[in-house]
Amino acid sequence: MMERTLAIIKPDAMKAGSADEIMNLIEDKGFTILEEKETTLSRSQAESFYTEHKERTFFKDLVNFMISGPVTLLVLEKDNAVKDWRDVMGATDPLEAAEGTVRKLFGASKGENATHGSDSLESAKREVAFFFPRL
Ligand code: CMP
Repeated sequence: MMERTLAIIKPDAMKAGSADEIMNLIEDKGFTILEEKETTLSRSQAESFYTEHKERTFFKDLVNFMISGPVTLLVLEKDNAVKDWRDVMGATDPLEAAEGTVRKLFGASKGENATHGSDSLESAKREVAFFFPRL
């Protein structure tokens, strides 16, 4: 099924100058980049985007990290996009991520792990609409 998912190139990968390389990898894996927007998230945007994690111990660190510099927001389209983008990213912890995955290549830690991807079709719909309401 043709799906859309939200990808975020996080502040660590942006700072490292890896955004173009990550977007090339995304296209090489067969995704179409429908939307691309560089922005710096506000605290309230980041808190609201990650609201499902608000009770977690790492919530404050996560929000502080996500607003620490520019990010690139991407809407990706592909057959099976939600799962395929998660597979291309690899495990949340770069130490556990498979060879060749984005987080293995560009991530440093569970928090600073280069990219985000929606975790289900339902989340993808919410997350795409959150940043790109006209889609
Ligand atoms: P993301 O896919 O953006 O969604 C939730 C994020 O929480 C996840 O990526 C991780 O980067 C982050 N996260 C998960 N566990 C931890 C942790 N122990 N410390 C800091 N951040 C974490």
